[in-house]
Amino acid sequence: MTVVDRIVNVADARRFARRNVIRSIFDYVDGGAEDDVTKAANERAFRRFSFRPRAGVSVPHPELETTVLGLPVSMPIILAPCGLVQLMHRDGVLGVTRAAHQAGTISALSTFAGAAPEDLASEPGPRWFQLYATDRDMALDLMARASASNFDALVVTMDSPTAGKRDQDIRNGSAAGLTFNARTIVKFAPQVLARPRWLLSGLKSSIETITSGETRRVPGGSGAPNIPKRSSPKGRTSQWNPADHDPVRISPFTWDDVAWIRQQWSGPFVVKSILSADDARSCVEAGADAVIVSNHGGRQLESTPSSLSVLPEVVAAVGSQVEVLMDGGVRRGGDALKAIALGARAVLIGRPYLYGLMAAGEEGVLRILRIMYEDMARTMVLMGCQKVTDLDPSWLRMEV
Ligand SMILES: Cc1cc2nc3c(=O)[nH]c(=O)nc-3n(C[C@H](O)[C@H](O)[C@H](O)COP(=O)(O)O)c2cc1C
Repeated sequence: MTVVDRIVNVADARRFARRNVIRSIFDYVDGGAEDDVTKAANERAFRRFSFRPRAGVSVPHPELETTVLGLPVSMPIILAPCGLVQLMHRDGVLGVTRAAHQAGTISALSTFAGAAPEDLASEPGPRWFQLYATDRDMALDLMARASASNFDALVVTMDSPTAGKRDQDIRNGSAAGLTFNARTIVKFAPQVLARPRWLLSGLKSSIETITSGETRRVPGGSGAPNIPKRSSPKGRTSQWNPADHDPVRISPFTWDDVAWIRQQWSGPFVVKSILSADDARSCVEAGADAVIVSNHGGRQLESTPSSLSVLPEVVAAVGSQVEVLMDGGVRRGGDALKAIALGARAVLIGRPYLYGLMAAGEEGVLRILRIMYEDMARTMVLMGCQKVTDLDPSWLRMEV
């Protein structure tokens, strides 16, 4: 039996992933901000709902197909934009994109994935590009490259003016970004020696990149360029200079920036990481075609509400004007169906497919998508629901 055959659920993929990659990378993927309160809340939120099945209904072929921003998809699950994908397995972003394409769904490339938009230019889609930028020049450059590389939609992420505090990344020395080259590899040597398989499957591509003279920086949680520090006020005697403790800026978008980006990008436009009806209305005002209810998988601001608990509020506010998507904590196909019953057009998954990638490369990502698809199909048969697009809140019951 291959590793892929032994992955029956997301937790299995996580276990194999942990065995394959070095600790700094596994922790980077697995961790949430601070005490993991929001990360845990995301998963727990799905358990507050149970299904209200309809007995005596025959569902010979459940229909999972839908559209997202006009793109037909085989199921309402999309691969979320994630940083550092290129270091998780040698299949990297190409493997992720190809798995999504094979499964008939969308993958989103993060600005911080460790690959350039051009690397995917000739890959079949559908593909979205997720934008981070410290300023408008950087945004313009990336948008032009994404457009020239045939990305179908642009996603702007709103929750990352700076990086959340991920304690494990700080302990591992990777909070300021993971860069592997002749100098930094010494620091990671003990971890690499403990995971030789990753050395073969993951690091090789980085070494190739480096030896080809193209040392692309792969920013991690906070890989943004340093902004100038404030100078100390005259006469300060204390050693404590507040400017030394300023958070590093990653992508400090304002609503003016979002409206401006909308004007520069002619295709479908998605705003990610919205956690209130008011912000969802601001997205609509700025010209968004879709909003993603998300707290970044609990990796940014600790103690935000679970994404699922915010979803109904956002659907009520803007659901008649734009498509509403959500992510955070989806671990089973049934979780996705609950979000759809609450009004999401589709859900995104982050860690589940990253675990699959780290466990078994492109095949591992495909395995996770297949498991999610089969989970949803089986659940719909058991519920007596023919079409995913028929789901509404009447299919759910709130557990007390
Ligand atoms: C390792 C990792 C890196 C991420 N990097 C990004 C990123 O670069 N841009 C972004 O918009 N979201 C990023 N996210 C958040 C995901 O897009 C998504 O919102 C989140 O993973 C969903 O939660 P889940 O992991 O519980 O499925 C990242 C998530 C993870 C796990």
